Amino acid sequence: MKKIAILTSGGDSPGMNPVIRSVTRTAVNKGMEVWGIQNGYQGLLDNDFIQLDVLKVSGKGREPGTFLQTSRCLEFIKEEGQNKAMKILEAHGIEGLVVVGGDGSLTGALALQKKGLQVVGIPGTIDNDLYGTEMSVGVDTCLNTIMHLVDMIRATAASHRRCFIVEVMGRASGYLALMTAISTGAQVAVIPEFKLNMDNITRVLERRFARKHNNSVIIIAEGVCSGAEFLNRINDFPKGTIQQDTRLTVLGHVQRGGVPTHFDRLLGARMGEMAVLALESKETGTMVAQVGNKMQLIPIESVIGKKRALSGESIRTARNLGIEIGDAVEM
Ligand code: ADP
Ligand code: F6P
Repeated sequence: MKKIAILTSGGDSPGMNPVIRSVTRTAVNKGMEVWGIQNGYQGLLDNDFIQLDVLKVSGKGREPGTFLQTSRCLEFIKEEGQNKAMKILEAHGIEGLVVVGGDGSLTGALALQKKGLQVVGIPGTIDNDLYGTEMSVGVDTCLNTIMHLVDMIRATAASHRRCFIVEVMGRASGYLALMTAISTGAQVAVIPEFKLNMDNITRVLERRFARKHNNSVIIIAEGVCSGAEFLNRINDFPKGTIQQDTRLTVLGHVQRGGVPTHFDRLLGARMGEMAVLALESKETGTMVAQVGNKMQLIPIESVIGKKRALSGESIRTARNLGIEIGDAVEM
C-alpha cells in the first residue's frame, strides 16, 4: 500500500479532524503517500484532492469540524457517480480509501469496495446510531455541548420558575436525548424508541411544581417531532394543568460545533491509526468499531441499514432516576 486517501462525509462531527491527523501521521510513518479529498463524495466527483503531510495536519487534532470539509452528494448515490469516482481514484493511483461518516457515507464506501477499491470506514456522527460500535467519533463532544447548554437553560428556567422544552438532534435515535436527560437531571426525555405518554408527563410536572421546584426540563429528540409541535401539545392541556410557564429552545447545529473533548481526540487517534493498519494488512470493506473499549474491525455490511439500540442499562438508569421516558413499544 503506497498511496491512500481520506474523506469525511455526511454531517460533520467533532473528532473528524483528530481522525484525519491520525490517519495522516500513521500513514506517513509507514512510508505511504496520503491524499485528502475535500468536501466528501462531492469533492471526489469534482476531483478536489490535496496532498496531506505532517505539517498540513499540525494542530488540526484540536480543532472542531472537519478541515477537509464534508457534503451530502446525490450524484454519488447513483451508479454512474460511483463509476466516475472510481475512474478519478484510479487516475490518482489511490489504492486504499478511508471514509469517515455515518450510515449513508459507509454505504457509499461499500459501493466503492464492491467495484474493487480497498476501503475502511470510521464511524463519524454525533447521533451514535451506528450499529456495531459503542461510540462514534463526535458523540462525546456533542453530549458535553448539550449538557452545558441545558445547564445554562436550567439557570434561567429557575430564575423564572419556568418549564423548558429542549429539542436535540439525533435523527431517528433518542440516544443524545436520553443520555443528556440523565446527565443534566432532566425530568422528561421524549425519544422515538418509546411511546409518548402525555398523562405521565403532566403528572411528573405537576408533582414537581407541587413540591416547590422552581423549574423543569423536558429533552425531546428531533426524531419524535419538532419541539414546536410538542410545545403545542403541552399548551393544549387545559389551562392550569401545567402550572409552569413553558418555553422552547431548539439547540440546532451548535450541537455539532464543539471543540473535540479528550475522549473524541483519543477515539479519533485510535480509530485513525487502526484504519491505516487495516489498509496495510489488506483489510477491505470493514469499519473500525469500539467494542469493550478495544478497537476492532467489523464488516461494513454488518453495520449499514441497521440501527444501534439504546442499551437496557441506560433505560433502567433513567427510569430509576425518575426520568419519564414514555412506554416501551415493540421495535
Ligand atoms: P451520514 O453518512 O451521516 O449517514 P448521509 O446519509 O447524508 O450522512 O450520507 C452522506 C453521503 O453518503 C450522501 O450524501 C451520499 O453521497 C452518500 N450515500 C448515502 N447513501 C448512499 C447510498 N445508498 N449509496 C451510495 N452513497 C450513499
Ligand atoms: O447526522 C447528524 C445530524 O446532525 C443529525 O443529528 C441531524 O438530523 C442532521 O445531521 C442535520 O443535518 P443538516 O446539517 O443537513 O441540517
